[in-house]
Amino acid sequence: MKSKIVLITGATGGIGNQTAISLAKLGATVIITGRNKASGEKAISEIRDISGNDNIELILADISTRFGIKELVKQFGTKFNKLDVLINNAGCAASERKLTSDGIELNFATNVMAPYLLIGLMTTFLRNASSPRVITLMGGDLPKKLDLHNLQAEKSFDGLNYYSQSKLTMMAVMYEYAERLKGQNITVNVCYPGQASTNMTQNVTADMLPGIMKLIFPLFKFFVRSDAGKSAKKASRSSVFLATSPEIEGKTGLYFDKNVKQAKWPRVILDASVRKKVWDYTVGLSD
Ligand SMILES: NC(=O)c1ccc[n+]([C@@H]2O[C@H](COP(=O)([O-])OP(=O)(O)OC[C@H]3O[C@@H](n4cnc5c(N)ncnc54)[C@H](OP(=O)(O)O)[C@@H]3O)[C@@H](O)[C@H]2O)c1
Repeated sequence: MKSKIVLITGATGGIGNQTAISLAKLGATVIITGRNKASGEKAISEIRDISGNDNIELILADISTRFGIKELVKQFGTKFNKLDVLINNAGCAASERKLTSDGIELNFATNVMAPYLLIGLMTTFLRNASSPRVITLMGGDLPKKLDLHNLQAEKSFDGLNYYSQSKLTMMAVMYEYAERLKGQNITVNVCYPGQASTNMTQNVTADMLPGIMKLIFPLFKFFVRSDAGKSAKKASRSSVFLATSPEIEGKTGLYFDKNVKQAKWPRVILDASVRKKVWDYTVGLSD
C-alpha cells in the first residue's frame, strides 16, 4: 500500500480507527476524519506510534452537513491530488429523530447523504488514481423492504430499526454508484463489519432496541462492554480486505459480510425501480 492514499471517514475511534492502523502498517498514507480535535489528534498520534508510519493526517469535519463534506474535500485538496481508497466508515445511530442544519434527518444525513456527496465530490481525485476503490460500511439486521415514504423517518422513528433502514437505503445508493461509475474505472463495494464494542454500540439505549429485544438490554450491554478495540479490529477485516486485496482489483458492485466472504445483495436492492427512486430522492436533497 506504499504510495496509496486512503481517506477513512470517522476513524478517530471504533472500526475506522482499527482500519486506519492496519492500512498505516501496510505503508499507506492515511487521512482520518472526525469532528473532535482532541480525540482526532490523540488518534493520529496513536496510529503513528503503533504503525511506525508518520504519514497519517487528520481532517476535522462534520460529515452530516453539506458544508462539512465540502470542507472535508477542500481540505483534502490542499494537500493531495489523488485518492486511491475512500472508506465511507463514519455512521450514525441516533437515539431520536433529529434534523441537521440542512434540515435532513441525522441518520439519513450521515449514513446516506454523506457517502453519496463524498463520492461525487471526490470523483476528480479518485480518477487521478490508477485503480481507485470506494468502500462503504453497512449495518446489520437489514429490513426486507424499504419504506420509500419513511426514508427520513417522517412517519415513524423506530430506533435501531430505522438506523438499519438508513443503511439499506445507503446500499441502494452504492449499488447505483457501482453501476454509474463502471465507465470511469472507479470500483464501489460495500461490507458489513459485524458487531463490535465501540462508542456507537455502547451509546445504544434500551429505547432504541426493537420490541422484545428491549427485555434483553442488559445482555446487549454486556456484549458491547469495552474490549480495548478487540472486536473493532475484527470488524475492520472486510474494509481492509476490500481496500487492499489484489483479488478485488477492478471488481465493483460487491457486498462482503463480516467474515470477509462475498454475500448476496438484499433482494430489494436488486430492484432497479427501487434504486432509481432512492437515487433520485438522494440527488434531490443534495443541493
Ligand atoms: N459497531 C458495530 O457493531 C457496527 C455494526 C454494524 C455496522 N457498523 C458500522 O460501522 C461503522 C463504524 O462504526 P463504529 O461502531 O466504529 O462507530 P464509532 O465507534 O461510533 O465511530 C464513529 C466514527 O465516526 C465519526 N463520526 C460520527 N459521526 C460523524 C459526523 N457527523 N461527522 C464526522 N465524523 C463522525 C466519529 O468521530 P467523532 O465522534 O470524533 O466525530 C468516529 O470516529 C459505522 O458506519 C457503523 O454504522 C458498526
